Amino acid sequence: MRKNSQIKSKGYRIMVIDDEIGIVDSLSIVLSKAGYETKGFTDPLEAVEYLRIETFDILILDFLMNSIHGDEVVSKIREFNNDLYILILTGHKDLAPPIETIKALEIQGYCEKNDRFDQLILLIESAVKTISQKRVISKFTDGLNKILSSIPKIYHLQPIGRILDDILNEIMSLTNSVNSFILIDDISNDTANSSANKHNSIYKGVGIYLCSIEEFTNNLSPQLMESIGESRMDKKVVCFDNGIILPLMNEYHESMGVLYLECLNYHDMTKLLEIFVNQASAALNNAFLHSLISIKNEELIKTYDELKERYMDTVEVLRLAVDAKDVYTRGHSERVGYYARKIGEIFKLSSGELDILNVAGIFHDVGKIGTTDDILLKTDKLDEREYQEIKKHPLKGAHILSAVSMFKDVVPLVKYHHERIDGKGYPEGLKGDEIPMFARILSVADAYDAMTSDRLYRTKLGIDEAKKQLIVGAGTQFDEKVVKVFVELLDKKFDEMKKEIEFSYMDVKICK
Ligand SMILES: [Fe+2]
Repeated sequence: MRKNSQIKSKGYRIMVIDDEIGIVDSLSIVLSKAGYETKGFTDPLEAVEYLRIETFDILILDFLMNSIHGDEVVSKIREFNNDLYILILTGHKDLAPPIETIKALEIQGYCEKNDRFDQLILLIESAVKTISQKRVISKFTDGLNKILSSIPKIYHLQPIGRILDDILNEIMSLTNSVNSFILIDDISNDTANSSANKHNSIYKGVGIYLCSIEEFTNNLSPQLMESIGESRMDKKVVCFDNGIILPLMNEYHESMGVLYLECLNYHDMTKLLEIFVNQASAALNNAFLHSLISIKNEELIKTYDELKERYMDTVEVLRLAVDAKDVYTRGHSERVGYYARKIGEIFKLSSGELDILNVAGIFHDVGKIGTTDDILLKTDKLDEREYQEIKKHPLKGAHILSAVSMFKDVVPLVKYHHERIDGKGYPEGLKGDEIPMFARILSVADAYDAMTSDRLYRTKLGIDEAKKQLIVGAGTQFDEKVVKVFVELLDKKFDEMKKEIEFSYMDVKICK
């Protein structure tokens, strides 16, 4: 007994079933000496019941027993247990179970009984290897399944800190670890900020490593520090008795940090852990790349804003240049924008749409920049050539404003503000509903302000006369609905609007 207690257990449990007690005892002694935990039964049915509550790795079963045959016993066991490795003992090779039975019941092997049990021990050793490999494969498969199910989680775009949490949680559950940390370079900071912020690190710890990066670096043992450096420099896994350091690498196979996992019995999982860490590295790279793209986008948006601002300045200069050509039209554009917005309010347009009307009013004649002064300032009636020339300004204005997308919604209004309902307008001679509604609003606002302002070639009309002209033109030059609501607006709110225009125009003048 004392000798037996010194035998190192192989960690496998074997059940022996034979109706001869002598065989059971002999086998039990031989197997115990070989390092296996053994339990013997002479009653096969009692053994089957015992198997329901206790786990064994291997069953050695006598085939020919008085009460019940071995194949029937296997049949009962296979009803609830397919993992048990079963070896059949036969009295003579001619008495072995038929090959069909062996296959059908998933019996892994059989051997003849003899006094030395050498053949049986060899079979058991072979069985142990098979079981061990099967367990590794099963563990690997489970681990791979876990990794596969955790991949969408760690690839989910979220702040780096949360990705690190997810990576640690997933890898710790694979190894039943409770203490772990990740230390990585902050790539996004490297690129985004000045050199003063370069070489920043991001740290995330769990269990005894749950602390700030300052605390972590202050308490880091020289041995662990060296191993982290070794893992990073050689891009290799560094193993300890109770832990493992796995290198994290970017897409160029450069070190980006390490993951440390404190755990026991991880050696057969090292490959699996490497697979997971490769995925984790890719997820982190992805997140960093995304943050870099966001930063780039912000830079692009900023550049575009600056471009827009500069372009706005240019267009504004053009507009003011047009205004400056003719003292009589100064303030006209702002007023047209104002009236167009007022009409839009009656139609209950959104604030965005009202802005489009206002901006279109302000820029509607910007195309006149290309019209020569002798035409623009002519007091006599324009001849055909001159008229053709001035008719170009809506299209020219549309072209100027089309260069940047910010005026995209304004362009059609500028282009079509001289179209007429009866199709006799320009530049395209559109009719009725073919003319965008907002351009029809702009047309009425433009005409009204032109009529009520002094021009080089005529004095302004009175308000009533201007309203009358609008009504006369409704349905031919102007949209009837637009004229109707605008005339009603002038009837009700003329004084209020006049004050607002004067104030707003003063404001514009001061700003310029
Ligand atoms: Fe115009």
